[in-house]
Amino acid sequence: MKLLVTGGSGYLGQHLIPRAMERHEVIYSHFTSDPLGFDNSIWIDLRDGITTDVIVREIMPDGIIHLAGSNRSPDMHSVIVDGTRNIVAAAEATGARLVHLSTDVLFDGTAAPYVENDEPTPIHAYGRAKAIAEKIVQGYADHVIVRTSLIYSERIMDMGTRWMKAAIERGEPPSLFNNHLRNPVHADDLADACLELLEIDFTGVLHVAGGEALSRADYAMKTLRHWNVPLDGVTAAPDESGSFPQDVRLDIGKAQALLRTKLRGVSEVLG
Ligand SMILES: NC(=O)c1ccc[n+]([C@@H]2O[C@H](COP(=O)([O-])OP(=O)(O)OC[C@H]3O[C@@H](n4cnc5c(N)ncnc54)[C@H](OP(=O)(O)O)[C@@H]3O)[C@@H](O)[C@H]2O)c1
Repeated sequence: MKLLVTGGSGYLGQHLIPRAMERHEVIYSHFTSDPLGFDNSIWIDLRDGITTDVIVREIMPDGIIHLAGSNRSPDMHSVIVDGTRNIVAAAEATGARLVHLSTDVLFDGTAAPYVENDEPTPIHAYGRAKAIAEKIVQGYADHVIVRTSLIYSERIMDMGTRWMKAAIERGEPPSLFNNHLRNPVHADDLADACLELLEIDFTGVLHVAGGEALSRADYAMKTLRHWNVPLDGVTAAPDESGSFPQDVRLDIGKAQALLRTKLRGVSEVLG
């Protein structure tokens, strides 16, 4: 299959691209930098609809995995909303199957565990942008929306762990939220699930997250220990701000029934 991956330079992309290249003819995009540095990498600003359209028509992909646009992207709303609109238009123009990455934090956290039919109830800007993007994707027939959770691996340090490690090294150990519940997912498992979803007969929303629910505090302790970061001074406390969804556990029963890929829990991977 000829496969286009947007945001291949990002955290998930760095895990997905090498695996995708074992199975498909892959072209992937970067925006500010490309840590992978393969020569099948192209630059696209997905906010620019005309350029995106020209580039995707030139590639004529059979499948698109749309990773670009996270809560770390500068000009986040536009990258997520306009970028997704432009990718959906390009998928329509080329007839490509579209696998779109979404998030658990488009739920408000008051009714977990969430199933695929639950309506998004976003409470912050990132969740709202991702909820709008999902609606746009749903306007195109041949799509899968993959809602996922915190992404990590034991090979490449994730951004959250990097941030905590830097704070500890500065002598400012963080207080970790022990009332935020998530299903952290191993990046390879998520990558394999996305690749599998390109080729199976399924349309709609699928919750693809890790098999173990943990508080952000417990999860962070496990990843910090894995990376041998000293935990001196690190504390845990509930987040009472109301600015973030607290419990957004995802029910992954449907994904586990549908996919060959096993969605491992953090303890299974990191011990
Ligand atoms: N990481 C998580 O824990 C997590 C949790 C739930 C859902 N997700 C979702 O999973 C997907 C992948 O996440 P990630 O952690 O891999 O994200 P990431 O590391 O922040 O990567 C974002 C990607 O978007 C690209 N990008 C930014 N602005 C762009 C623009 N204007 N045009 C084109 N590309 C642009 C970036 O390119 P450059 O790096 O080259 O600038 C990068 O490749 C995202 O859709 C995210 O919302 C992630």
